[in-house]
This record gives sequence, C-alpha cells and structure tokens, in this order.
Amino acid sequence: MSEARLDTVRLQTVVKGFWESAALMSGVELGLFTAISRGNDGIESAAGALGIEVGNAERLMTALTAMTLLQRDGDTFTNAPDVERFLVEGSPSYAGPWMLFGKPAWNEWGQLTQHLRQPKSDQKILGKYDDNFTVARARDYHAATYSIGLGAARRFHKQVDLSGRKRIMDLGGGSGCYCITAAKTHAHITAVVLDLPSVVVVAREFIAENGVADRVTAEACDFTADALPRDADVAIMASNLPIYSREIIAGVVRRVHDALLDGGEFHLIGEILDDDRRGPIAPALWGLSEAISGSTGLAHSQSDVIGYFVGAGFRDVSVTEFIPGTLTRITGSKS
Ligand SMILES: C[S@@+](CC[C@H](N)C(=O)[O-])C[C@H]1O[C@@H](n2cnc3c(N)ncnc32)[C@H](O)[C@@H]1O
Repeated sequence: MSEARLDTVRLQTVVKGFWESAALMSGVELGLFTAISRGNDGIESAAGALGIEVGNAERLMTALTAMTLLQRDGDTFTNAPDVERFLVEGSPSYAGPWMLFGKPAWNEWGQLTQHLRQPKSDQKILGKYDDNFTVARARDYHAATYSIGLGAARRFHKQVDLSGRKRIMDLGGGSGCYCITAAKTHAHITAVVLDLPSVVVVAREFIAENGVADRVTAEACDFTADALPRDADVAIMASNLPIYSREIIAGVVRRVHDALLDGGEFHLIGEILDDDRRGPIAPALWGLSEAISGSTGLAHSQSDVIGYFVGAGFRDVSVTEFIPGTLTRITGSKS
C-alpha cells in the first residue's frame, strides 16, 4: 500500500494565514470591494478610486484573486458572490466593520506565545472587558458586532417564536440587536439589555436610533456577579460563552434559572465545540483568543453546556444549529 507523500504545503499555507487576513482587511479598509462593485473593475481604475499606486493595487488584487475573493476575467475583476453581498459599503448587509473586529488585537496575536506562558494567577474574570473597555472602545466594538449581529438576531427571531412572551433579559446584549429585533417583531414585547457600564451607553444609542426606546432599555449589570432582573420570561445570552471558565458559566446559567419567571425560557447562543472537541475551528479559535484577553475563558462543548442547563434545573434542554460551524443555540425551560 502506498503512503501519501507528505509535503509542507498545508503547513506553509496555515503559517502565512495572517498575510491573507491582512489582505482582506486592507481590501475592506481601502474600499476596494466597493470600488469594484461601482465599476472601477480594472487595476488602474481601482488604484485611482482608492488613491494608491497602480503597482500596489496590482499586488493586492492579485492576492485577493488567488484567495478567490475576487474573480478575474482578463483585465476585469468582479467580487466573489459573498464579497459582493457583505463587503460593499452602503448595502444593508454590509459587514465591513465585523471584518475588522479582530484587528485591535492584531499585535497581541503576534505575542500569543507569551500570553500562553501567563500563569493562571494573572487571569482576570472580565478579561478584555475590564476597566480599559471604554465607551469609545465599546462604540467601535459594537459598530462591528451590530453589523453582523442584526442578521443573527433576525435569524433567532425567525427560529424562535416569542409572540406569547412578555419580557426579555439579554445578558451581555451588546448593541442590543436581539432586543431591538424583538421589539420590532412583536409590538407588545419589552426587553432589557444587560451589559457593562461602557457598553450600556452605546446600547442606548442603538436603541434610540432604532426608535424602540419606549420598550427596550439598557442597564449596567455584570452578569457574573450582579443580581439579575426577576421579571423576565425570556433570557438570551449570545456570543459570550468562551469568555468565561466552566465554573463561571455554570454559575451564570444557575442564576438565570433562579431569576427567570416560572415557565420562562433561556436561549444560550454560543461558539460551542462538538462533543468530541475536535472542532469546529471557529469555537476553538474563540477559546484560544481568550489567552490574548487574559480571561479564564475557553471553548465549551455541547455536552458542557447541556450539563450547565440540566445542573441548573432547566428542562426540555435542546440543541439547535444556529450559524453552521460557528454558533449553536442551547435552549431550556424553567418549570
Ligand atoms: C461579543 S459581544 C456580543 C454582544 C451581543 N450579545 C451580540 O450577540 O451581538 C459580548 C458582549 O458581552 C458583554 N459582556 C461580557 N462579559 C459581561 C459580563 N460579565 N456582564 C455583562 N456583560 C458582559 C460585553 O461587554 C459585550 O458587549
């Protein structure tokens, strides 16, 4: 039997992955995909629209073509379908800010080895969300989460019928996208976004912009430590899971169970590993990113999270794929 011949191609591709990240981020920052969509679809015209040297436009557009983000036909370029949909400014589905979400941590990822050498005693419960997470930082951060979270929130409210519910508490609700969409979907529902003080300022801005301030509020609450409201029949917690250790998340799930009204439901939408812990890659990397943040967090598996729910007393615990390969929704009811 012949053995597959091994080479270093895969390893070389992975190790240069950050070059590809940089190329995509520059494409977004320079507005290349928007320029191409608007007809500046050759190297020279794109260079003119971007205000960069023709040679640099050629470098970037050649790399992005090889990455299959651009399609090339002779001297004419078009955006790949996902790029055209999500990376052209002015479109309602524009997700450019989300593409740049990880960039503030760029230099720290270069120091990953040092971060992995940090002792446990240096870990901070709130990780990157400590006192340095200012209003200005929160504003940039949630411009990014809102650009992707609104789509996720719409998907949630298509999957989950909350028409019979009265009040939502959204733990770590960020921009408020889940509560804002709830208020727009159900004329009677009220909601409170619970988040850290700097984020509450920003959530209130999104809530006001969306014209739902009469039914959606935002309140400062550290969900790992502060009392949770006791008047909600729905709790949501989205995209927070890997920030915290198993003990902390188990404690939060217990406190949600205690605070929810009888008959209420809890939806935890998280970056969750399969039970064999072999993937998917996205939750695994979110867990690794917590080494950069200096938190206690890590990637949790489906059975970890089901265990937190069952241990807290939730019944009818179910698992639903939410965003393939990225987010899973775990739901439980309080009897
Ligand atoms: C990645 S964002 C997700 C925001 C929102 N749930 C969404 O899906 O768009 C994580 C949010 O959790 C908040 N958060 C993290 N730890 C928290 C804590 N202990 N108490 C309250 N909010 C917290 C952060 O401030 C941030 O707004």
